[in-house]
Amino acid sequence: MGFQTLELRIEGSLAIILLNRPKALNAINLTMVGELEQAVGQIRDDPGVRVVVITGVGDKAFAAGADITEFKAMSPIDAWIFVQRLQRLFLEIERLPKPVIAAVNGYALGGGCELMMACDIVYASDAARIGQPEINLGIIPGGGGTQRLARLIGKQRAKELVLTGEIIGAREAWSLGLLNKVVPADQLMVEVRKLADKLTIKAPLAVKAVKEAIEDGYDMALERALAYEGKLFALCFATEDRTEGVNAFLEKRPPTFEGK
Ligand code: CAA
Repeated sequence: MGFQTLELRIEGSLAIILLNRPKALNAINLTMVGELEQAVGQIRDDPGVRVVVITGVGDKAFAAGADITEFKAMSPIDAWIFVQRLQRLFLEIERLPKPVIAAVNGYALGGGCELMMACDIVYASDAARIGQPEINLGIIPGGGGTQRLARLIGKQRAKELVLTGEIIGAREAWSLGLLNKVVPADQLMVEVRKLADKLTIKAPLAVKAVKEAIEDGYDMALERALAYEGKLFALCFATEDRTEGVNAFLEKRPPTFEGK
């Protein structure tokens, strides 16, 4: 499928989405939203894809936010429709039944930071710069920035970042709990591929169950969440991958999981 604003590479069981508007620091315009919807749908429906990586083209930006040029003539209703669509897209990414890794290769601002936070695991280059600077435009984050940020780093620290619009470096973002790992810029994709290699050989149905247990259980009271986890645990025992995993352990060989 030909895209204008992104590239979708399928390399075996790995899908890589490259945000590709480097001249605009990969700002997310309406075309990119539509193309991300298509790419994510394609990845979701392709059983051969087991892991997804999202990154930006160039060495400056992951994504510097929503495309501000499109805001100039945007009515309040258009703005509402736009962010609802962006929120649905980021939810869809968060809910993909496969691990999604963000490889943050530069600026992750506004909508770029929101996209990053919808990913399961975030590796960043030491040159990455992260923030929610919408306040400087007289608006607020609309792609989940006030919500996921507060859930990830706590209300007080989220308020400080969103109210000041301050852009912070990768080390500080890591210390706040926004990133899993910070690596030298030239090692980012090497490290991300190592992680992807580890994840592609895991049992796909167990991977899906992990994401559901953590995502759905997170907002439940502990007792209900534990009951939910217990049911998903039991469901794994209905899979061929459970038989394979347990047999492989007992036979002292690596397992081969097929997602059945
Ligand atoms: N939208 C549209 N264009 C953008 C952009 C954005 N979010 N961010 C950068 N660009 C464009 C610049 O206009 C510039 O284009 P031209 O070369 O045509 O002038 C090009 O990308 C390079 O950017 P700069 O020259 O500004 O590069 P810099 O290194 O001097 O500064 C920066 C980098 C600090 C990231 C600066 O570009 C910047 O502040 N960008 C805006 C960041 C921002 O406010 N993001 C939030 C957007 S709102 C949002 O995301 C809402 C939401 O929650 C969904």
